[in-house]
Amino acid sequence: MKRIGILTGGGDAPGLNAVIRAVTVSAIDSGYEVLGFLRGWAGMLEKDYEILTKERVYDIHRQGGTILYSSRTNVAKVKDGFEIVKRNLADLNVYCLVAAGGEDTLGVAKKLADAGGNVVGVPKTIDNDVNATDYTFGFDTAINRVMEALDRLHTTTEAHQRIMVVEIMGRHAGWMALHGGMAGGAHYIAIPEVPFDTDEIEKLCRERYAAGKKYAVVAIAEGAEDPKLTAKLQRSAEKDSFGHIRLGSGRGIAEVVAEELQERTGIETRHIQLGHLQRGGDPTAFDRVLGTRLGVKVVEMINAGEFGKMAALRGGEMEAVPLADAVGELKTVPPGRLDVAKRFFG
Ligand code: F6P
Repeated sequence: MKRIGILTGGGDAPGLNAVIRAVTVSAIDSGYEVLGFLRGWAGMLEKDYEILTKERVYDIHRQGGTILYSSRTNVAKVKDGFEIVKRNLADLNVYCLVAAGGEDTLGVAKKLADAGGNVVGVPKTIDNDVNATDYTFGFDTAINRVMEALDRLHTTTEAHQRIMVVEIMGRHAGWMALHGGMAGGAHYIAIPEVPFDTDEIEKLCRERYAAGKKYAVVAIAEGAEDPKLTAKLQRSAEKDSFGHIRLGSGRGIAEVVAEELQERTGIETRHIQLGHLQRGGDPTAFDRVLGTRLGVKVVEMINAGEFGKMAALRGGEMEAVPLADAVGELKTVPPGRLDVAKRFFG
């Protein structure tokens, strides 16, 4: 029997299990056996997999995380990595591999396709920064988490007449801080794409207090920077196998800005990193449905022999787009989008 494989790589995103379920059910219905490789590309390199059945994936679309586990293994960093992957796929009689991941995982998929492997991609990340698709699954769940957190932070911050600086995931792209911050009514939002100025936040806080609105909630993406404060950050030097430094640890941007604001204004200020709470837990209806549609689409692509492509949401419809269009450059927040949010600052 022909086989297909599936793996999930990079930071997990709610909706991954919906993809696994949809791929498994559609592939079995198309006459394939399905191998779920464990821990992303690590399982592919080590031939570590489990056979996925309809029973195994029944109902899993309701759960967060990924039943296949994930890792940030980079095949390009392993000696003869792509040759090993191709050999393993051939040994296991896998006709095509489905790689569900963000820029890094899909970048490896693209290189595998260039090396002659049959591979298709599914765009995943809470950061929403993959090109050639309108949205990635996981993003909707994550911004709802941010919105709920901000809703809660408003009441406690107002009760104590404090300033609260909230650090939101997003190293290079500010989609989560922007959309989560807008939905959660942040009084100021900072994203990595646009350097910010803490003087502006200070002014805004002073104006709010002077007007009798004696509290402020500030939403800052973990990768956002005030160039004047960069020296005060103590970010970890640790890098993952794709070369990304680890934010969300050490002395991050929210802590530094909170200290500055308290020092300058004398207003009691707190900071919080929402961290992995943004990624954990059950997916929203949007992400369950998006994951399901993407999973069904990639199996249609495999049946049509459309390799080296990624299933994507474009204008509400499912499309197959070249992996080359999806990777190489991140989809960052376009200039001007922050201006919409700015109308509601203060
Ligand atoms: O790529 C998704 C993401 O959640 C980023 O927003 C964040 O910077 C990073 O992963 C955190 O990675 P880890 O879980 O490895 O600490």
